[in-house]
Amino acid sequence: MPVRTILLLCFAPFAIGALQGCGGDDGDSSSGGETSGGSLGECPPDSDAQAQAGYQALQDQCVPCHLMDTKGPSRIGAPEDVNVDDPASVTREAEEILAEIKIGGANGADGMPIGSKLSDDTVESIRVFLACDAAK
Ligand code: HEC
Repeated sequence: MPVRTILLLCFAPFAIGALQGCGGDDGDSSSGGETSGGSLGECPPDSDAQAQAGYQALQDQCVPCHLMDTKGPSRIGAPEDVNVDDPASVTREAEEILAEIKIGGANGADGMPIGSKLSDDTVESIRVFLACDAAK
């Protein structure tokens, strides 16, 4: 049956780990490195204001634990190399930051910020900032 053949063609890409829909063969033959920013999703068009809001939220919500100038006990145990006011750190940690804020830290959950959960809008604006500006 031809239907079987079509199904095989559709599912074959999944078997080799290329998560594309049926017919989405782009013939990418470049070296199989990391798909940078993959889990950050798309940078939407005309999203400068949203990205700016996301940047600002990171600066406001992760104080004082994740600032370069915060040292010692004031970090409350936050890793020394995770600082929202250090662009290199934000770029390196972008996917981790997004994963943490999606979980959030409300009710003892082990995401960020500790003790609370950012609103969905804020999480999305931070995602846009990370996808547009931080993932290089
Ligand atoms: C009250 C202090 C505090 C605040 C506020 C805070 N964090 Fe953290 N953060 C920590 C501590 C402590 C750790 C290490 C323990 C852990 O991972 O739970 C940490 C770890 C992290 C890590 C590394 C996780 C890992 O497993 O490598 C990331 C990324 C992070 N925080 C992001 C954020 C972001 C983004 C915000 C703001 C939205 C934020 N944090 C707010 C204290 C804080």
